[in-house]
Amino acid sequence: MSETISALPTFRAIDVIRKKRDSIELTREEIEGLVNAYTRGDVPDYQVSAWLMAVVLRGMTRPETAALTDAMLRSGEVLDLSSLPQKKVDKHSTGGVGDKTSLVLAPLAAAAGIAVPMISGRGLGHTGGTLDKLEAIPGFNVNLPVTEFRRVLEACGCAMIGQTAEIAPADRKLYALRDVTGTVESPYLICASIMSKKLAEGIDALVLDVKTGSGAFMKSEKDAAFLAELMVETGERMGKQVVALITDMDQPLGKMIGNALEVIEVVEVLRGEGPGDLRELCLHLAGWMLHLGGVSKTVAEGTKLSSELISSGKALDKFRHMIELQGGDARVVDDTTRLLQARRTSQIVSPKSGVISSMQRKEDSVDPAVGIVLHKKVGERVESQEPLATVYYNSEARAEQARLLIVDSIQIADAAPAKRPLIHRVIQKSGEKH
Ligand code: URA
Repeated sequence: MSETISALPTFRAIDVIRKKRDSIELTREEIEGLVNAYTRGDVPDYQVSAWLMAVVLRGMTRPETAALTDAMLRSGEVLDLSSLPQKKVDKHSTGGVGDKTSLVLAPLAAAAGIAVPMISGRGLGHTGGTLDKLEAIPGFNVNLPVTEFRRVLEACGCAMIGQTAEIAPADRKLYALRDVTGTVESPYLICASIMSKKLAEGIDALVLDVKTGSGAFMKSEKDAAFLAELMVETGERMGKQVVALITDMDQPLGKMIGNALEVIEVVEVLRGEGPGDLRELCLHLAGWMLHLGGVSKTVAEGTKLSSELISSGKALDKFRHMIELQGGDARVVDDTTRLLQARRTSQIVSPKSGVISSMQRKEDSVDPAVGIVLHKKVGERVESQEPLATVYYNSEARAEQARLLIVDSIQIADAAPAKRPLIHRVIQKSGEKH
């Protein structure tokens, strides 16, 4: 009888599912085994679906979360940017209506001497994505191959592209499965999904903007803080400097919503103009990027330097340079009418006098083909028949939907609501709060 030497008992998905079901902590090897086998196509969707649901119901320990993030990160290419002399720092936002800070921050931090290798996503749910906004710039190419991405980064200090097929392929597969199995809403899975993609950029430090409020994915501050702490700790376990700011998303950020309009507001902020809330948040996030990037001793110093880089026009020059290098029409910076923008407009007027008390509901989904300019924000007084917003559109049917949504979501009361701070708290070093 011939003797066959069989391989050592290998990973079995059923064991990993059972352990998670019974709340027994998984080892790094088990998590890695599952992620790698699934990415290769060696474990079927139904087994991974069962495991994902067990994670949603049972949660994960911090070492398990770090192991999952690491396995997803290493499922694809991890950029090696060590040849660049600058510190590599990125910013990630969990997403909110009118959040265009990435487009301001990449050139701003680059103007301060930091490298910003930004790999971004498309819109998710009711929020617009950075890539969609960049594509409002005629010719701007968000699909650069990694070699070209690196070339732009070396030439101007910042580059902005979409996720390539080579970056964290495990996340691509897992996210698609989560989307159809009711397993998106787990902070552990969200953490691993976001952090695996961000850390694959080859960064040294990361500033997280975790939104909370009616227009955010995390409605309650408690949930936002939990996710923020999880991401900060996971990043630190992986040897990166990470800070999370919990910021307000109870109303849109800035006054312009919609891809082309948001680029106009980005240019305004880079010119030293633009709405106060957007400008303040950008300067604060930039302050953290500069601080973690070693350019400034303190965050306050980083914020001051960022403000100077805007006043001197250096940040706007960087934006112009990046657009040019990525094939876009850089003339949009001086003439925003060149942006791909809806041309028809209609005004929405206030049905009564009072104070704007709220202007966003979580279920409101803004059609990206329709732009909105808000003329009033929460806490501001409005008179009857005074313009509340202007809708920019090409299709009358879509404009009508947007008009109904705006009228429905803007509440007018007799008195102003309590003012909410823009930055609720800062989470750093495994839960330390400022
Ligand atoms: N964004 C991501 O990239 N992943 C998630 O799981 C949720 C939001």
